[in-house]
Amino acid sequence: MKYVQLGKTDLIVSRICFGCWQLSPRFWGNVPLDEWNMALKRAMELGINFIDTADAYGDGFAETALGDFIEKNKCRKNLIIATKFYWNFTDPENRYPDTRYDYIIRECELSLKRLKTDYIDLYQIHAWDPLTRPDEVAAALNTLKKQGKIRWVGVSNMNVHQISMYLRYVDIECLQPLYNILDRDVEKEELPFCLEKKIGVITYSTLARGILTGKYTGNEKFQDSRANHPRFTGENFKKISDAVNIVMRPLAEKMGLSVAELAVRWVLTHPAITSAIVGVKKPQHIETVIRASDDILENHLWYRIASDMKSACI
Ligand SMILES: NC(=O)c1ccc[n+]([C@@H]2O[C@H](COP(=O)([O-])OP(=O)(O)OC[C@H]3O[C@@H](n4cnc5c(N)ncnc54)[C@H](OP(=O)(O)O)[C@@H]3O)[C@@H](O)[C@H]2O)c1
Repeated sequence: MKYVQLGKTDLIVSRICFGCWQLSPRFWGNVPLDEWNMALKRAMELGINFIDTADAYGDGFAETALGDFIEKNKCRKNLIIATKFYWNFTDPENRYPDTRYDYIIRECELSLKRLKTDYIDLYQIHAWDPLTRPDEVAAALNTLKKQGKIRWVGVSNMNVHQISMYLRYVDIECLQPLYNILDRDVEKEELPFCLEKKIGVITYSTLARGILTGKYTGNEKFQDSRANHPRFTGENFKKISDAVNIVMRPLAEKMGLSVAELAVRWVLTHPAITSAIVGVKKPQHIETVIRASDDILENHLWYRIASDMKSACI
């Protein structure tokens, strides 16, 4: 496993980050916790030290599972924990964005309890909240930093303008955007901006929710949130699955990698990217992706994969 500095922080993180959204039954069904625990253990054995979660994943369930793992394995100091706040899920039927001062202070306390720790390494604003002023959000984050409850601040799902609004009041060390071979919007503005400002970038949906692993034929039916997702239904699903098998599989095989590893390596090749988050349910998910960080792609290959996939998916 390769490690890099996250932005300007003192955090040295593995280039693959273990994503915990899969512990959200509403989106991913019921993932057996014993398998998930084994996967996290395996990830640590293979050198992963960076974990991404959120208070809202399973309405606290994912943070609680991670906290239980940490307590049982006494491994807090071996992990770098990134979590998020934004969704007020006090009433699960009426969730809404909430980044008001009091809510952040309260929610951070609850995250610390669930995670069974007294500090969060990277506390991320999950998305832009149009109803709360950036200076109010920043005031809460600066208070938490002063108290030592959070070490560094990050943002997710934000454009350059939104990040700049927060930067006026609080240091932002990391952006967590959607980025993979099929979703490349952030290449235009956000990635160059982060490179210039030395803001770390950790990508989500690196495998485009699994479709870039090459394990689908395009005929599968899903029981989870992918059941109605345009990329996982109908002609589109078939077209993308075929493209992965025609464009990516032969290249991956030639390089001795799994298709998932090629997809992750493609993301890690961009110079702005610190780490790629991969959503994990079981040990095999980690074992078949781990070599992605051993190297990066040559420029011509990076370009060819992206353009061939684009042409094949039209
Ligand atoms: N900030 C945000 O708004 C945001 C949004 C989304 C995600 N995230 C974060 O990013 C993480 C990853 O993103 P994601 O959950 O969208 O999906 P992803 O990593 O693109 O895909 C995850 C899915 O891919 C499959 N998979 C994973 N590793 C595999 C492997 N080695 N071989 C074969 N299949 C594999 C699994 O599918 P099956 O379920 O079919 O087994 C898994 O559920 C999340 O866990 C979360 O931490 C953040």
